[in-house]
Amino acid sequence: MDPVLNPYVPGAGRRPAALVGRDDVIGVWDVMLRRAERGTTDQPLVLYGLRGVGKTVLLTRLRHDADKREWITVQVEAGTSRGLREIVGEGLYGPLSDLARPAAGTRLLRALKTALSFKASYDQTGSWSFGIDLSGQSGGGADSGVLETDLKKILKDVSLAAAEEGGGLALLIDEAQDLSAEDLTTVAAVSHAAAQDDWPVLFALAGLPSLPQTLSEARSYSERFRFVKVERLDPDGAAAALADPAKAEGVTWDDDALSHVVDRSGRYPYFIQQFGQEAWDAASDRRIDRRAAELGVASGLTQLDNGFFRARWDRTTQAEKRYLRAMCPEGEDGIGSGEVASRLDRTIQSQSGVRNSLIRKGIVYAPDHGVIAFTVPGMAGFISRQHGE
Ligand SMILES: Nc1ncnc2c1ncn2[C@@H]1O[C@H](COP(=O)(O)OP(=O)(O)OP(=O)(O)O)[C@@H](O)[C@H]1O
Ligand SMILES: [Mg+2]
Repeated sequence: MDPVLNPYVPGAGRRPAALVGRDDVIGVWDVMLRRAERGTTDQPLVLYGLRGVGKTVLLTRLRHDADKREWITVQVEAGTSRGLREIVGEGLYGPLSDLARPAAGTRLLRALKTALSFKASYDQTGSWSFGIDLSGQSGGGADSGVLETDLKKILKDVSLAAAEEGGGLALLIDEAQDLSAEDLTTVAAVSHAAAQDDWPVLFALAGLPSLPQTLSEARSYSERFRFVKVERLDPDGAAAALADPAKAEGVTWDDDALSHVVDRSGRYPYFIQQFGQEAWDAASDRRIDRRAAELGVASGLTQLDNGFFRARWDRTTQAEKRYLRAMCPEGEDGIGSGEVASRLDRTIQSQSGVRNSLIRKGIVYAPDHGVIAFTVPGMAGFISRQHGE
């Protein structure tokens, strides 16, 4: 069928035509926004789950919901090269410059001046200008060099400025497992201060299944977070993620075609989008039948092998590849790192460097002490399809 009308969108962070199965989280966030607007600030939301399960698109949806309520929103991605100070600083620039105008209220002008000082705290060379003269304004002082102090200052000033307009400040941090322990502890401390003093600042973090444990190991008072596991879709949700976008284009799925794709996707959103896209392309006459579904799964699998899986595999060294092979097939659910080492005829200690490097690359995580598992669903099957690499 016409590929121009194909409604399926496999790809990291790509907004699906139908975002299904996430009403609970969306509802929780909505309550958080409304409570903050009334003066009660809740603890950060932490979304965690496997690769491709839909964390980023959910986080983006939460941001849009805050945008709709006229909040100042900042959505950023943590990385190993930049710290919290810089990603928050850079993330704030766009939204603040959109609001900057000479006739702005005093709280906003104050927040802009504080933002300039925050920027100066990590970047002496670059300078921001919001195009207005802030010299006579109060504010500033977010450049003590102590991250927690500076972050509290900037978030307080920006959120109180947002409150003047009836909203608040939402800070959404993706790939949060890549934040350092110090940065995670700071998020806990700052959000706690916001809740105590009721500045309307809401945090939502998203990351790999290791995130809850990383937060508790960072001595960041994990009881101060609200954890939500983002799961693969339930059977009805998976069917709806396929059938609803087609229906909107006047296309129907045969029942046996639908159940084939739901089944073979393992109900993982990324795979649903990939198989759906290929099945659509293989179908004709506004109807996706079993044959198109089977072709779609087969070519979708090739696409996944060449993209979703290979992108991770190609980032590993030979030693890491050997380690990943030794984790199969149990690594889908988790396998003892002692068992992996013994399959490699090595000691656990000698393998800890490889293991840690795979964790840093976000390919595996430790679901429990001494246990290791793939963050990527279906990784064991992919590895078994790779020969001689
Ligand atoms: N609830 C959903 N319903 C339908 N499709 C979804 C849903 N959530 C995500 N998807 C689709 O799944 C794919 C992966 O989504 P996303 O990038 O948000 O996953 P992720 O959990 O952030 O993955 P990663 O850990 O690799 O960053 C995208 O193609 C997206 O359109
Ligand atoms: Mg993501």
